[in-house]
Amino acid sequence: MKLKIAVLPGDGIGPEVTDQAIKALNAIALEFDHKFSYKHADVGAIAIDNSGVPLPDETLNVCKDSDAILFGAIGDPKYDNAKGNIRPEQGLLKLRKEMGLFANIRPVKAFDALLDFSPLKKPNIKGVDISIYRELTGGIYFGKKETSEDGTYASDLCEYSVVEIERIAHLAFKSAMARSKKVTLVDKANVLDTSRLWRKTVTKLAKNYPEVSLDFLYVDNAAMQMILNPKQFDVILTENMFGDIISDEASVIGGSIGLLPSASVGDTYALFEPIHGSYPQATGQGIANPIAAILSASMLLEHFGLYDEAELVKDAVEKSLKLGITTPDLGTKHDKITTSKVGDFIADYISNPNDSNRNFSNIHLGQSTII
Ligand code: IPM
Ligand code: MN
Repeated sequence: MKLKIAVLPGDGIGPEVTDQAIKALNAIALEFDHKFSYKHADVGAIAIDNSGVPLPDETLNVCKDSDAILFGAIGDPKYDNAKGNIRPEQGLLKLRKEMGLFANIRPVKAFDALLDFSPLKKPNIKGVDISIYRELTGGIYFGKKETSEDGTYASDLCEYSVVEIERIAHLAFKSAMARSKKVTLVDKANVLDTSRLWRKTVTKLAKNYPEVSLDFLYVDNAAMQMILNPKQFDVILTENMFGDIISDEASVIGGSIGLLPSASVGDTYALFEPIHGSYPQATGQGIANPIAAILSASMLLEHFGLYDEAELVKDAVEKSLKLGITTPDLGTKHDKITTSKVGDFIADYISNPNDSNRNFSNIHLGQSTII
């Protein structure tokens, strides 16, 4: 398969983790005879630095001219109090909106090799397998915003329409059909009109999927249940802001936020990005965990129906976790396993799944020919 991939590494650790995802994709291309071509473009703080805006037109055009977008991370504290309200994050939000990426899919899994890294109790998290469907182009993120001139009043409007709810709900139910056939709608219907619209719309739509059971949880309760008994969840469907919060919370199950990938899809385009941020303090130190970026690349492969390829990437990731070839956030068992070495190991495993233990010792010693 030929794929044109727009690469938007972004800020902070974005570039270094994205490089590892590309290593994995290149290894897959070689093994399976695909042709992946990459075009890099700026987004976020780096784009503000280089061209004054967080999402230059040129970047948007590169994205629209590609089959998929591989995104790194966004954000730089130097813009926290920027004049004129220009912030790196606006680049990502505009990109989501302009590309129509209305559904953000965030799989949450407990890896057996990492059960000890979660602060949660092992029996409660072993086997967790959740797919979060977060609405991504509506709600309070995109409603009218206002700050009074004297700065003593501010407002963010939360809006949803039936169409916006239905299109992501269909995706969530379809996904549930291929999983454990359960959808949990997370909302705040005891308080918010928008949440009541979500409940009404989703309840009606659920009739098209009689095999799928639907239940409802208020977001405050859902936040508690996520820690108390995450195994009760299969597919979680929720609006933009609740999905943002609940997915960061869910990352605790896996042991590190550096593990969670995501896919953002619309009718035409698709973007793949880790759920973590730009972790500015770690930039360039080789300590950023590249697994979320690499698993995002695996979601990209899946999106194009390349299931064996996606599976091989996931196998490689699991192998690295089992062998402890991990960055310090996962308490590496070995010295000096950098971001890049994790990427090398994973690419190497993809090329030689049966040979990896031997190569690992080389990588560990910094002697591998593939570095
Ligand atoms: C995410 C991030 C973004 C969001 C930020 C960077 C705007 O936290 O993708 O979860 O809030 O959606
Ligand atoms: Mn977030």
